[in-house]
Amino acid sequence: MSHAAPIYLNLSEKLTALIRSGTFRPGDKLPSIRQASRENRVSVTTVLESYHLLEGQGLIESRPRSGYYVRPPSYPSVPLTRAATYRGKPVRIETSAIFETVMDLVENRDVIPFAAAAPDDSIISLSKLPSLAAAVFRKYGAEASRYTPPMGRRELRLALSRRLLVCGVKVMPDEIVTTHGATEALLLALRATTKAGDLVAVESPTYFGILNLVRDLGLRAIEIPVCQKTGLCIESLRKALGKFQIAACVIQPNFQNPVGCVMPPDNKKYLANLSAIHHFTIIEDDVYGDLGHSGERSSSISLYGGDVIHCGSISKTIAPGLRVGWVIPGQHLKQIKYLKTIQCPWNATLSELIIAELLDQGGYERHLRRIRKIYATQCAKMRDEVIRHFPQSCKVTQPAGGFVLWVEMPQGFDSEAYTVEAILRGISVVPGTIFSPTLQFKNCFRLSCGAAFVPSSFDALKSLGQLASYHLVP
Ligand SMILES: Cc1ncc(COP(=O)(O)O)c(C=O)c1O
Repeated sequence: MSHAAPIYLNLSEKLTALIRSGTFRPGDKLPSIRQASRENRVSVTTVLESYHLLEGQGLIESRPRSGYYVRPPSYPSVPLTRAATYRGKPVRIETSAIFETVMDLVENRDVIPFAAAAPDDSIISLSKLPSLAAAVFRKYGAEASRYTPPMGRRELRLALSRRLLVCGVKVMPDEIVTTHGATEALLLALRATTKAGDLVAVESPTYFGILNLVRDLGLRAIEIPVCQKTGLCIESLRKALGKFQIAACVIQPNFQNPVGCVMPPDNKKYLANLSAIHHFTIIEDDVYGDLGHSGERSSSISLYGGDVIHCGSISKTIAPGLRVGWVIPGQHLKQIKYLKTIQCPWNATLSELIIAELLDQGGYERHLRRIRKIYATQCAKMRDEVIRHFPQSCKVTQPAGGFVLWVEMPQGFDSEAYTVEAILRGISVVPGTIFSPTLQFKNCFRLSCGAAFVPSSFDALKSLGQLASYHLVP
């Protein structure tokens, strides 16, 4: 055993030389552990140590139930050419006919799920939720299945008031209203701050659920471009504020869906100041805030003052089906409490108590550290595969957090027709059009890296790459 170190180093040096010289090329499979052990007359442990070293150096990667492969070189981030155009005029939000088809696929287990921005079932162990549920029933008995008070279970609001300190949100439990996921939080925030016909600033591209709410409430939208480096373009918003009366601005400052960018602290501060000067509400959607790939927790805009309503949920970090979310209404507390009491006064008691228990037991930070790594690795793998298999003219984001990639193809590419053909091949993606109020981004689409990467994911990306080449306009 004492001689194992030099042998595994020798073996890894030999393999490195073979990779560098092109004998093994990106995507090639390395000999299996047993085969390498036989061929090199070393123990299985030595081969494993050597492969782990190469994996740590980023030269190779292990693929579940498949083996070790040479990794493609890590590609630098290429800026997207096309932030949305700032059109400077209010619009009514359009819907694309393909929207319902894409939504129908979200929970379809027969397709390779690159459409749904949902975490894999495995991010929380299958036994964890039942054991938390059992603990809740032991502790609360029948109370666990009774109605919640309209503001939600106090246990959860207490746990959240402690938890939210990590991003700079300082609130008392009685200043929090719990909701059915972030969707209900956003709906309450919009209802409390706008009336039909009002103008709302939205990011472009943005999560389509936000656009649906704005349209459904009879509001008009003004599209503010999102740039890959700094998120919402503050300068465009400033221009819009100079020209129009804007009631609210819905923004995802941290790991924006679909671009994956973070708004720098100075811009957050500036935005908070703008809200105070121009009297509009910042509706902050922070569902991805805990999922920064570097491990650092980006702050909430409310840290910098201004009129901010903070919305969040556990849908991306624990389980979307539990439907646990929250809204921190700030100065709109009275109105949001009133609306909640009318709109949907009771939440899912068991779900809320489970999440309160989970947060109280400790270990949530450890859980986040683990899943951040999983998402970072999955995004990197998927990005590498896109770069390897898609036409060279394609550009893909390198998200700083979360788990979605935004792919930009050359002008003329029709992502809706592409989506339909991808579905026929058993793969779901989301076309770019539904991320814009005016159906911009026809040449873009979103890929989710939330689901576990399995051998069929690699085949699916190869197939999507081929399909993208057929769809290129000559
Ligand atoms: C940016 C963003 N906000 C809100 C939501 C909705 O979250 P929830 O499932 O908690 O309602 C999603 C879901 O995809 C999202 O991506």
